Amino acid sequence: MEFEQLIKIRRSIRGYREAGISETELREIFSCVRMAPSWKNSQTGRYYVALGEEAVKEVYECLPDFNRNNSANAAYIVTSFKKGISGFANGEATDHSGDIWGGYDLGLQNAYLVLKASDLGYDTLIMGLRDEDRLRKYFSIPEDEIIMPVIAIGRRKKDAVERVRKEADDIMTIR
Ligand SMILES: Cc1cc2nc3c(=O)[nH]c(=O)nc-3n(C[C@H](O)[C@H](O)[C@H](O)COP(=O)(O)O)c2cc1C
Repeated sequence: MEFEQLIKIRRSIRGYREAGISETELREIFSCVRMAPSWKNSQTGRYYVALGEEAVKEVYECLPDFNRNNSANAAYIVTSFKKGISGFANGEATDHSGDIWGGYDLGLQNAYLVLKASDLGYDTLIMGLRDEDRLRKYFSIPEDEIIMPVIAIGRRKKDAVERVRKEADDIMTIR
């Protein structure tokens, strides 16, 4: 799909009729996710996919009610990153941002993820509100990973609500 078109069709979808995504398509998405840039190519993003019935139900239960309702019938991708690597040198943070750099890298990977999902005809919802401890336990996510959003992925039942965006000139300065 043409890039500008892809940017336009990618929206947060709150209402799914089915997940409908195969392991092959997930691998296609992750073959793009792995190409995202990262601090010194540190590639600290990690992903835990809930595709099977039991795993999907477990992740669903890790969400607050409104995120449950909005993502029901979708599959889920729990996103995390290894801490203390991106933005660090010899175990020391290189600046005041510390692990924010790891979150930054993961955000870039997640942008690739949601855009490639749209390219394949799937919709997504990034959800920052989730029960992190329960997710860690279920997927045995190591303590050296910081758990970030859960991303619902599937086929939409409802279209997106229109969102107001700032104008380009409101967010950029050129000198
Ligand atoms: C880090 C992050 C956390 C978010 N958490 C939630 C969430 O918990 N529930 C939800 O419905 N939307 C969540 N969103 C989606 C945003 O509300 C949405 O991206 C924004 O309103 C812009 O709409 P659009 O994605 O349709 O363009 C989150 C988005 C991001 C990037």
